[in-house]
Amino acid sequence: MGGQNWSGGAAFIDGAFCAIEDAKISILDLGVTRSDCTYDVAHVWQGRFYRLGDHLDRFFAGMRTLRLDPGHDRMELEQILHGCVSRAGLRDAYVSMTCTRGRMPVGSRDLRTAQHTFYCFAVPFVWINSPDKQAQGASLWISTIPRIPPESVDSRVKNYHWLDLDRAQLDAYDHGADLVVLRDAGGAITEGPGYNIFAYWDGAWHTPSHGVLSGITRQSVIELVDDSDTRMEQGPVSAEQLRGASEVLVTSTAGGPMPVTTVDGQPVGSGEPGPRCEDLRRRYWARHRDPAWSTPVQYAASHADPTSVDHS
Ligand SMILES: Cc1ncc(COP(=O)(O)O)c(C=O)c1O
Repeated sequence: MGGQNWSGGAAFIDGAFCAIEDAKISILDLGVTRSDCTYDVAHVWQGRFYRLGDHLDRFFAGMRTLRLDPGHDRMELEQILHGCVSRAGLRDAYVSMTCTRGRMPVGSRDLRTAQHTFYCFAVPFVWINSPDKQAQGASLWISTIPRIPPESVDSRVKNYHWLDLDRAQLDAYDHGADLVVLRDAGGAITEGPGYNIFAYWDGAWHTPSHGVLSGITRQSVIELVDDSDTRMEQGPVSAEQLRGASEVLVTSTAGGPMPVTTVDGQPVGSGEPGPRCEDLRRRYWARHRDPAWSTPVQYAASHADPTSVDHS
């Protein structure tokens, strides 16, 4: 397909690459009608994938749990992701992959007859909180809307059951906050739309371990804390502990560790991003140049000029 405009990003769907604006999915797809799907989001920073192997492990584990088959093995899928980033010509990219239950034959209501759908795409890097905003820190609201229980929707399988998260985010905007975090039915802090949460008090970083996604950025921060002389505790965090913490941060592929400087309208610590968070941010981003944690994107020479060749 010569003459494609790859400037907004590149997708792979129905077995072929296309410009992001041309990537379409059926309104009968069970991913659309029932959120019956799993997905993952990796990222590319300065031309290198960060922890792509871990994202693929999580994606394939989620598909196994949901009995979904993307129709590609891991090596093919990895090549397809490289192909999207290469075609889009992006050095910093948000790279998403989804497998849905797909479509059942006309007249069938038996999930086992469904033909699964796989698609993925690379678009310019997306920040939950822009670097400018990170310099000042984000405001966080603790929602009264309970997080959907992991016994109903397994939080370890990355999913699109986001109505609780989106309702809570809209509430947070009404309270003048940038970000939101939800509690479980017992009142323990869980996570927010697209991020895990960490809080520092009494000489240790704490992060919830139940009812949350095992975020790859969360894992990075746990490792970075373990590599320092600070204690890392994974377990229940209450709203009171979060409000009383001296540092708070959220973690996401879409931005890394990002400081939170107010909780429910009250300043966290000094009200400025804390030194421990700044140190974690610095060491997290330094990992992106380290071959132990990152792999170069295979930019095909033929994709160097995104407008010049046939990419089909
Ligand atoms: C609900 C939820 N929690 C946590 C995260 C953070 O995970 P990661 O660090 O792998 O991006 C995400 C990412 O989208 C998410 O959707």
